[in-house]
Amino acid sequence: MGISALIAKDNLPKHVAIIMDGNGRWAKEKGKFRVFGHQNGVLAVRDTVEGAVELGIQYLTLYAFSTENWNRPQLEVNALMELLVSTITKETKTLMDNEVRLNAIGDLDSLPKNCHQELKEAMAKTSQNKRCTLTLALSYSSRWELTQAAKHIAELVKAGKLDPQDIDENLISKQLNTADLPDPELMIRTSGELRISNFLLWQLAYAELYFTPKLWPDFRREDLFEAILDYQKRERRFGMTSEQLK
Ligand code: FPP
Repeated sequence: MGISALIAKDNLPKHVAIIMDGNGRWAKEKGKFRVFGHQNGVLAVRDTVEGAVELGIQYLTLYAFSTENWNRPQLEVNALMELLVSTITKETKTLMDNEVRLNAIGDLDSLPKNCHQELKEAMAKTSQNKRCTLTLALSYSSRWELTQAAKHIAELVKAGKLDPQDIDENLISKQLNTADLPDPELMIRTSGELRISNFLLWQLAYAELYFTPKLWPDFRREDLFEAILDYQKRERRFGMTSEQLK
C-alpha cells in the first residue's frame, strides 16, 4: 500500500507552499557545479506537481527565485533564468495534460524579457485549467510585496478613493499578489533550514510548518505525502482551546 492511501482525502490542505532549498549543497555533495543541482531540482518540481494533482491539492506555490537571489553570481542567475524559460516551455504540455493553471507572483517586470514572455504565454495557455493552480514565486519577497501593497493603499487614500477607517485585513489581503489564492495551510521547507526567509509572511500566519532535511533535488511526491500526513496529525486551533474545537 502506498503512503498516499493513508491520507484522509476529506482533510487535505487546500494550499501547500514550498521553499525548495538545498540545490547547491546537493550538487556540491556530488562534486558538481550548483547549476547541476538546479537542473535536478526541476525533476523534483515535476514529481511534486504531479503528486499534488494526483492527491487533489488545489493550490501549490513554489518559491523558485527570491528578490535576494539576484545577488548570486551572474552566471548562476543566468543559468536559473534559462532553466526557468526552458522548463516552462517544455512543461506546458504536462500542465495542460494535468489540468494545471500556471500562475506567478513577484516582481515579474524585473525578469529577463524572454523569461517574462514565456511565462505570460504559458499562463495564458493554461488559464482555463481548473484542477490545480501552480504558482511560481519569482523575484518575490514578502516585504517587497507588503511594501507595494502599502504604497497602493496610500495612493487610494490620497486620491480620496479609500477611507483609512475601511482598511482591514481583508482589504490588505486583496492588495497582495496572492489576492486570488487562499492562505496556505501547510508550508514545507527542504534542506534542514528552519526559516521562512521572506516568503508569504502575511499569508502563512496560521500555516503549519514542516521541515525536512532532504535536499530539494531528492524531494519526491512521497515526501509531499509524508508532510501532508504529518499535517493531518496536528490540531489547528487558530487561537482557541482544544475544548472549543470539539
Ligand atoms: C534553492 O537551492 C533553490 C533555488 C534558489 C532555485 C529553485 C529553482 C529550481 C528548483 C529550478 C527551477 C524551478 C522551476 C519551478 C521550473 P539553493 O541554491 O539555495 O541551495 P543551497 O542552499 O544548497 O545553496
